[in-house]
Amino acid sequence: MNVEERITELITKMTLEEKVSLCHGATLFKTGAVERLGITAVTMSDGPHGIREELKDDVFEPLGLAEDASTYFCALIALAATWNTELAYEYGNGIGEEAKARGKDILLSPGINIIRTPLCGRNFEYLSEDPYLVSKLVVPMIRGIQEQGTAACVKHFALNNQETNRLQVDVRVSDRALREIYLPGFKAAVEEGQVYAVMGAYNRFRGQHCCHHEYLLKDILKGEWGFDGVVISDWSGTHDTVEAANCGLDIEMGTIAPFEEYYLAKPFLNAIKSGMISEAVLDDKVRRILRLAFRIGKFDQVRPKGSFNTREHQFTSLRIGRESITLLKNEDGLLPLRKEALKTIAVIGDNADHLQGSGGGSSGVKALYEVTPLQGLHNKLGENTEIIFARGYSNDPAKAEELRAEAVRIAAGADAVVIFGGLNHGDDAEDHDRTDLKLPNGQNELIQEVYNVNPKAVVILIGGSPMEMDPWIQDVKGVLLAWYSGMEAGNAIAEVLLGDVNPSGKLPVTFPRRLEDSPAHSIGEYPGDTSVEYKEGIFVGYRYYDKKEILPLFCFGHGLSYTTFQYSDLKVFDGGRNGGANIEVSFNIRNTGSAEGAETVQLYVKSIQPETERPVMELKGFKKVFLEPGETQKVSLTMDPSSFSYYCEEKKAWRMDAGKYELLVGSSSRDIRFTEKIDLKHCSMI
Ligand code: BGC
Repeated sequence: MNVEERITELITKMTLEEKVSLCHGATLFKTGAVERLGITAVTMSDGPHGIREELKDDVFEPLGLAEDASTYFCALIALAATWNTELAYEYGNGIGEEAKARGKDILLSPGINIIRTPLCGRNFEYLSEDPYLVSKLVVPMIRGIQEQGTAACVKHFALNNQETNRLQVDVRVSDRALREIYLPGFKAAVEEGQVYAVMGAYNRFRGQHCCHHEYLLKDILKGEWGFDGVVISDWSGTHDTVEAANCGLDIEMGTIAPFEEYYLAKPFLNAIKSGMISEAVLDDKVRRILRLAFRIGKFDQVRPKGSFNTREHQFTSLRIGRESITLLKNEDGLLPLRKEALKTIAVIGDNADHLQGSGGGSSGVKALYEVTPLQGLHNKLGENTEIIFARGYSNDPAKAEELRAEAVRIAAGADAVVIFGGLNHGDDAEDHDRTDLKLPNGQNELIQEVYNVNPKAVVILIGGSPMEMDPWIQDVKGVLLAWYSGMEAGNAIAEVLLGDVNPSGKLPVTFPRRLEDSPAHSIGEYPGDTSVEYKEGIFVGYRYYDKKEILPLFCFGHGLSYTTFQYSDLKVFDGGRNGGANIEVSFNIRNTGSAEGAETVQLYVKSIQPETERPVMELKGFKKVFLEPGETQKVSLTMDPSSFSYYCEEKKAWRMDAGKYELLVGSSSRDIRFTEKIDLKHCSMI
């Protein structure tokens, strides 16, 4: 008997009550079970950054166990800053293995909503403002998770792009923007990543709740994309029994008991009994749930046990941390700091010894340990350097002046000064957005004053979202962005600061100069009250700044290195198939400096004189290349019709127009090293 036949057999043996018990939470993170048929409960855990500590069955309170600490890999935005698809796989594989060891069937991860506003409280849990980058990272991550026999659950489907008003906001967006910007990551997760589960979003879209949305779930996800896995509601994101049953929700989860009163519990059972909902609808849900159970080996005699808190996972976290750190500015070769010359180093700022892993809401991790930046510097510098720490700022305004004065005093006489500022999870957190882009707690004044007494001061920003850096960014010569880079963050930061590791992170999101420059805010469509219209359409992130010719503070794809790279010998080979759009772009890249390093080369496509409005350019390829000093490598990037197409609302299909295009290859979206024109002769629909 094949799996589908075994599922059919199980379904025939189950009572209505038993079947319904699989479709809703029986505790906060578990469904019901049918023990007599060997069907055990499906167990879930947050993600995405590590396996969440164990909670009580019916309230969101930790059980306080001794053995439920886990690996804190890093915030997903830090992973995205690596632009490294192999690390995405390893992150997934590591966390999937930990989920397994902790007895979890479904990991509620990854979160892949598009970063529409720089203020969104969950930007740190997401990947990027760019759908291509999201798609390329989410697929290996899902593969990594699911190869461990853990189901990934990609979330939040869809348009959950703000936390403020997330429960009631009704998003209005064009079909074109939906298809080109907000859905590609989910589509890739389903079609290429073969993800086993998808979580609905809290918000509404065109008047209907996303957890039971006919167009999103039935028509697109299960219809067009052929998704045969399980749709899970966000916790308490379900609002109606008949709609949930008929519009594609398979499991209703929630935040409060009594679980048997959930829309997909007793009311669902009654609606089937009274004939309001057909039993076939229920059977389809049960089939999907059992299919997931088979896929992750729940019916196998022997299942791999998984493992957690391994040295290997901690090392994965360290490697991601290292590669995520993004060098935003480095003038006069200020960085890296030269260890030999450091008799004293002033380390300033609350974020130097702030633990980050456990904050932020459902993604918080009870980390087995977390190395703070201050600890990392102690580990790296040892006895030979005196580290003098001053907190510099705090969220108590009464202390600001005194803390600042102390910081300025220690900075004046030190050989080197490093200020750790930015955000923490009081700012970057689920359930609310930030209210502005400014650094909190008087950090701008602190940085400026410290710089005034010691112009060699370096700033290291922690955080998961864009921040304003006014006015000090004009002056300060060295700025690193360290995100929330996991349990080994402090070690990774110290290695980069002192030059043992060459930074190679690139921004997966634009840092605007001012909030008003960013699309959602400049057009005034945020946060809405009950509804918000994404009037910027497809012009999200760099697509907007490019169109409006607004200079960002740091552009999408930006990130410097301690070495230099030279691009040469660009060749464009047109395979001539599919209307001339099977194109290979190749070029050489050479490390022309004296440090080993990695460069993420980026390929953008621009349509010249398009018939339909298009973004100035769009990311359509990238590759991270590791090079020894003096080494040259040939890079090839391939393109196909999808690289040139846009969503045609009229035809409800993807369309590639004939015409001239420019291919732009560079080190960031605004540091283009070559351009080459091509002429596509044929138009095609995809
Ligand atoms: C979040 C989800 C999370 C769930 C369970 C919700 O509030 O939006 O991302 O997985 O809670 O903790």
